[in-house]
Amino acid sequence: MRENLHIDHRSGSSGKPVGGLILGIESSCDETAAAVVRAGGEALSNVVASQMSLHANYGGVVPELASREHLRNIVPVVREAMARAGVSFAELDAVAVTEGPGLAGALLVGITYAKALSFGLDKPLIAVNHLEGHIHAVLMEARQRAEAPMELPLLALVVSGGHTHLYLATHQQGSAESWTYRNVGRTVDDAAGEAYDKVAKLLGLGYPGGPWIDALAPLGNPRAVQFTFGQIKTRAPREGITNKKAPAPSEGPHFDFSFSGIKTAVLRYVETHHLRESIEARRAVLAADATITPKNAQGLCDQQTLDLIASFQYAVVGNLMRQTFAAAEAFGARSIVVSGGVAANSELRRRLQAEGDRRGLPIAFPSLALSTDNAAMIAAAAWPKFLARNFAPDSLGATPQLRLGQQ
Ligand code: KG4
Ligand code: ZN
Repeated sequence: MRENLHIDHRSGSSGKPVGGLILGIESSCDETAAAVVRAGGEALSNVVASQMSLHANYGGVVPELASREHLRNIVPVVREAMARAGVSFAELDAVAVTEGPGLAGALLVGITYAKALSFGLDKPLIAVNHLEGHIHAVLMEARQRAEAPMELPLLALVVSGGHTHLYLATHQQGSAESWTYRNVGRTVDDAAGEAYDKVAKLLGLGYPGGPWIDALAPLGNPRAVQFTFGQIKTRAPREGITNKKAPAPSEGPHFDFSFSGIKTAVLRYVETHHLRESIEARRAVLAADATITPKNAQGLCDQQTLDLIASFQYAVVGNLMRQTFAAAEAFGARSIVVSGGVAANSELRRRLQAEGDRRGLPIAFPSLALSTDNAAMIAAAAWPKFLARNFAPDSLGATPQLRLGQQ
């Protein structure tokens, strides 16, 4: 643990305080990212090297390829983030890195590099939970816009390719900076983004599937196919299973999700409606023409497929909304934050916002750039930890199954 903490509170020419500079590093999945953020509220740079096209050939992230690509990208991405921020390594106050959850080999690339950097520069190292990062992406942008702080407790829906979680978040007692989280809902099988990716793949669309379905859904009839979500049994603590990283499950209701059923229902629809042939034709067209993107894909699907896509999205968004508002009501949340890759979805944004307005419940989303994985959110989430001198030990390792808060 390092104690050589020094925050320089001089004012720069802009009148803003100088110092509080944190370099964030993120490599938990398929983006190598680095960013410099000042005092958790001002992103001076935010560089993301995406491996999307590499994994697109496989329709999903290939862990071994991801680690190799992170190794190739980590040094140039960090250098670029420092250069764009106009900051020297000596001016940094701390280095923050994603500790988990994520792919072990991918996480280790960022962690090893961050540890070496922190050791070489003699600056503190801060370990950040990726899920906490997604929540802080929204809080950072709200701070950047100089908005009033979000009212607490806030309910965070973190919804991406790897996660679908609901967290109740508030400040730790007696601290205006440190946060505590309680998990009040999670997926029992696939994440929502995973369902988007799998359904898109099944329908012969590109990877990742979210942006394709998002772009095509408005062209179909969302009520053409009725998809239903069954009730999910409330989780009970499993006897005899202990996990050092997972605190004991808490009392109270849980608002869990399940997305594997709808994926199977789409598959069944494809088979009973004999869509295989047109799907194969679409896959061949896309493979042969790299200029087709979600934005110009209108002609790619017949009306029946567009209706199926619209109905799938309508059902998924409806389910996310139902559980989110039910949890908000049950726990008396005073605001809602939505983050993660699926937070980029236009129907989700529109319908959540409308329902939030109806209920008088403020809802905040990140900008599109900060919806998906990035390192500005890691540096922002590290700021309260920096103030609390909550530094990582030199022995920091990757925790692929890391949980956030009380379960
Ligand atoms: O947060 P993220 O970049 O990585 C993970 O931590 O998983 O999220 C990626 C996920 C993918 O499943 C992708 O299909 C989904 O976010 N996604 C979307 C949209 N843009 C990305 N899902 C629905 N609509 C979108 N516009
Ligand atoms: Zn993520």
